[in-house]
Amino acid sequence: MQYNFFSSWYEKYYWRTGFKSRLYDRLTPESYLESMRKVVALLPDNPGQKIWDAGCGTGLLLFFLENAVKQGAVYYGSDLLSAGLSQARMRARDLSISDNRVVCVQSDITTALVFKENSLDVVAAHFSIYTIRENDKRQQALKNMYRVLKSGGLLIVCCPSKSYDAGKIIEESCELLRARRGLLQTAIKRMLFYPFTKGLGLSFIHKQLQSGQSMAYTREELTEELRCAGFEIGHSETIYASGAYLMCGHKVVVSG
Ligand SMILES: C[S@@+](CC[C@H](N)C(=O)[O-])C[C@H]1O[C@@H](n2cnc3c(N)ncnc32)[C@H](O)[C@@H]1O
Repeated sequence: MQYNFFSSWYEKYYWRTGFKSRLYDRLTPESYLESMRKVVALLPDNPGQKIWDAGCGTGLLLFFLENAVKQGAVYYGSDLLSAGLSQARMRARDLSISDNRVVCVQSDITTALVFKENSLDVVAAHFSIYTIRENDKRQQALKNMYRVLKSGGLLIVCCPSKSYDAGKIIEESCELLRARRGLLQTAIKRMLFYPFTKGLGLSFIHKQLQSGQSMAYTREELTEELRCAGFEIGHSETIYASGAYLMCGHKVVVSG
């Protein structure tokens, strides 16, 4: 892959610009939102649970956690980029979620622990760790997640697979939209939004995966990374037009 000035600038500022301009939210394909719905459907039935959205971006997951948070859960969002965190805070306000139920912190998931050990019920790492290029740093991020989870706690991780396919993601998104919103909304998204989703977003991610800047997993590789961090593997499924895996890791219950 040839790197000219524009492509390296794009790579460096991709997330920040997408978050600030809100293009990230506006161009998100329905299939990605569907993957968030799947994450939320796996949450335990525990009204007071503490949920860490690790590498939360703009806090899109909050859309799907609204009911859980209004019913007593606490949302902790963390990201490297303040641009995403400001959007997450704004989202919480727009959803009328009270300030003490949403905590957003700027931090690096590969370094120091931001939360106390054994203090959280759930960690959701929705398409975040795959952007960490170095194997040892990804491993450290997973170990940090393990440490902050309570005994019996749940990690839900979503990461692209080697079958990531931008075209299939757009097609699946249109099918989902057709079923959920009808033909008109689908046609609008297909013609006015999804060409940009594919051109500006999904194709860029695909290049990052192919060049090794980001990690495209096999199921075995993801299983191994979670196991090495201490997790017992639970439910797993393919998501995102079969271009990604959702996998659950459990922190083993320590008895006595
Ligand atoms: C593909 S975005 C996903 C954002 C969000 N989870 C979502 O699904 O919309 C990846 C996010 O991971 C964050 N990230 C990458 N490396 C990180 C690190 N070492 N510490 C914290 N956040 C990180 C990026 O800043 C970016 O917001």
